Amino acid sequence: MRILVIGSGGREHAIGVALSRSAHAPELFFGPGNGGTAALGTNLKLDLDDPARIAHWARQYEMDLVVVGPELPLVNGIVNILGVYGIPTFGPTAAGAEIEGSKWFAKEFMQRHGIPTGSAQAFENETEAAAYIETSGAPIVVKADGLAAGKGVTVARDTMTAHNAVRACLEGEFGVAGSLVVVEEFLEGPECSLLAFTDGTTVAPMVPARDHKRALDGDEGPNTGGMGVYAPVPDVDAATRDAMIDIMKRTVAGLAADGVTYRGVLYGGFVLTSEGPKVLEYNARFGDPETQVVLPLLQTDLVDVMRATVEGTLAEVELTWSGDAAVSVVLASEGYPGGYEIGRPISGIAQAEAIDGVTVYHAGTALEEDGTLVTHGGRVLNVTAVAPTLAEARERAYEAVGKISFEGMQYRTDIARAAAGEA
Ligand code: GLY
Repeated sequence: MRILVIGSGGREHAIGVALSRSAHAPELFFGPGNGGTAALGTNLKLDLDDPARIAHWARQYEMDLVVVGPELPLVNGIVNILGVYGIPTFGPTAAGAEIEGSKWFAKEFMQRHGIPTGSAQAFENETEAAAYIETSGAPIVVKADGLAAGKGVTVARDTMTAHNAVRACLEGEFGVAGSLVVVEEFLEGPECSLLAFTDGTTVAPMVPARDHKRALDGDEGPNTGGMGVYAPVPDVDAATRDAMIDIMKRTVAGLAADGVTYRGVLYGGFVLTSEGPKVLEYNARFGDPETQVVLPLLQTDLVDVMRATVEGTLAEVELTWSGDAAVSVVLASEGYPGGYEIGRPISGIAQAEAIDGVTVYHAGTALEEDGTLVTHGGRVLNVTAVAPTLAEARERAYEAVGKISFEGMQYRTDIARAAAGEA
């Protein structure tokens, strides 16, 4: 069996590790992959902007399954194109991925289907947006409608910040993604990510996870792609989890009612408000770094789960979870999420992975011609530990972090601290 995983981050490395544990022993290919995926299979120089070429390649080399990691190719319809070539592909079609590709599409969808979320309005005009902001007051959230690589969201604590964010969007800071701007209610409460496999009918939820989006300890500093994550989330009780699962099921049913058979991973980004969980956003894919803590807890063969998702037979597969906890700490380049240098040699990964339960997923690494592993991105490594409790997982993860070094390495020291019961 041959599987191609599209993408190059820690998420794709974690998917690759989970697939490599399958009883089907698949031969793995990564496009383009990273320094970590090179140890699991073959990295290919694929151009993600050219899905037809990827489809030709996948047919020529007889891929049994293609797994799409990132949102951009999904929103651009890679699953539709691979489908035309008859290649089984894990991920939603463009119509399904729009739930992530357009914030306003997602809001309208939720409003139409009675799915709990914050109130919102979309604007192409600064004056109208300004009037709405003045009426609503702060705090308030301003979002570029389209994909902006995680940078198009401003949580405005005062109305002036909100007005400036609207202007920046409409004046082109995020290109065409910001030509429509969504202004929405600020939801108060802790966040929680719930990912689910779905074949368009059956929804199979994963273990809830919590990302740490700010760069610095204590949730200070600028927003990032995520600096660490843990699963499960102790403050999510059974009733809250059930409420989130119910929303996920209603989402998939709502899409089906709108004529979209959504297959792949649906990611619900929730805020746990005093009125119950509300949807902050949807993503049409595995979360990054959530995947790095969720998939290590999955005991069911991931190949079977993915094939059933693609074939529409997910009801026949039972997902089982280990019952352990997982913590992942992101090691980032100096300067991230701003500008950073690449090409800095990395050491200590083998020593880190010698610790029981530890796996180091590569997010932004590359192998030089002489085999030296170097930094190649803002987020470089995801040091992940699995253990019976969050406290033990956290301890092991940070022990492993202590073994790794590269020039300018930065990381948060408080990932999962409160959840593990530490002050
Ligand atoms: N963890 C946030 C995301 O995957 O978008």
